[in-house]
This record gives sequence, C-alpha cells and structure tokens, in this order.
Amino acid sequence: MNVDAYKSAAAACAVELVRSGMRLGLGTGSTAAAFIDLLAGRVRAGLDVVGVPTSEATRALAARLGIALTTLDDTPELDLAIDGADEIAPDLTLIKGGGGALLREKVVASASTRMVVIADESKWVSVLGRFPLPIEIVPFGATATRRAVEAAAAAAGCPGPAPLRMGQNGHAFVTDGGHWLLDAQLQRIADPQDLANRLSAVPGVMEHGLFIGLAGAAILAGPDGVRLVERP
Ligand code: A5P
Repeated sequence: MNVDAYKSAAAACAVELVRSGMRLGLGTGSTAAAFIDLLAGRVRAGLDVVGVPTSEATRALAARLGIALTTLDDTPELDLAIDGADEIAPDLTLIKGGGGALLREKVVASASTRMVVIADESKWVSVLGRFPLPIEIVPFGATATRRAVEAAAAAAGCPGPAPLRMGQNGHAFVTDGGHWLLDAQLQRIADPQDLANRLSAVPGVMEHGLFIGLAGAAILAGPDGVRLVERP
C-alpha cells in the first residue's frame, strides 16, 4: 500500500466513530479530506451530522460533497473533531499547520469534546521538531516578530531559523485569517510546553502549531495495519 492508502485506512477507521446527531470538527489536509470523502458517503446513506470546517478549502470540499455545515458561533460546542497532523509524539502532542490552517484547527479542536488525529505511520515520531513548526503571525512587524520567535525558540533549547512561508505567487503565504506563517526549523523540541509558553508570549504571534493536550486519540495506519493510540 502507498501512503494515500494508509491515510484512507486511518480515515475509514475514524468514520466508524461518528454517530448520527454528532456535531463534528472537520480538519484540513489530505488525510482529513479522505475522512470527509468517506463521511459524505455515510451522509448520503442517511447519517445526520453537522460540521464546522477548519479552513476555506475544507468548507468548499464538504459543501461540494453535501455535508451540512455550521459555525462555532451557531454551534459553539462540538462532539468530535477529526484532523490530520504533521508530527505525532507518543504523548499525542502534535505539530500541525503544514497546510496553513493551524489557527482554525486549534480553535475547533479546543471546542470539541474529543479530538482524534488520523495519519499514516510516517507522522509518528519519538521527539517533535524535524517537521518545521508553523507559527501564525500578524503581517505588521513580521521581521521583528520573526526575530522574537527565533529568540524564544533558542531560550527553549531549540534554536533555529524561522523563515517566512512563501506562496506560489512569490509573496508571503496568507492564511484564511489574513495572517502570515513562519516555519521554524528546530529539529528537536525537547520541551514542547516550554516552547509553546514562550511563543504564546511573543506579541505578533497569533498561534503556533504545537497542539498539547488536545488530541485524545490517534489512529495510525501503516504496513502493519491500523492502530489506535489513546492519550496516556
Ligand atoms: C493543516 O494545516 C495541517 O495541520 C494538516 O492537518 C497537516 O498538515 C496534515 O496534512 P496531511 O494529512 O495532508 O498530511
């Protein structure tokens, strides 16, 4: 099986967690898209759910597939959020935001009673940090904010550059919220909570891609099959 097949296998397992009447958080990325595709099949068969999308891309996909959508303003409490991740540590701390949707993803996960992350086994790591950590910042003062972010990372014991993410048009990548992203190349984040605290204290940082204490379980698919990991 290739990676796409593993993503689909994890997504299929997650669909089994959905019950009629649930209010769902709908993640962003290719694995979440596989879940949404399978969910839409269940909806066509009569499953009654409503979803809050974590990005404009997910909103468009879910709407096109006929999944009823709502907002956190109309539906502020969700039952289950299903989303992908860029890295997953054994305590289910995550790096997210490779697709640029980390801010809405974190808001939606925080509004959900349960977050289940779905991924292929390549996302499972012993220590976070090889994948560059996305950090969403306001465009104003971006260079000063970048320097402060790099200083915060160094103070947390994981120094590294945090370049601005560029879009295909040669300009800064712009998130759905109108912000920019830094991708901090930290290699090894020994203490994610310390780094998270320091990043959150930097003026100009809207949110960072460390998800700590949010995922209740992970569904991982690989050559040895599909496994469910519950947060310790
Ligand atoms: C989106 O912003 C990210 O958090 C995604 O969840 C993450 O990048 C995983 O994407 P894939 O499922 O495409 O690997």
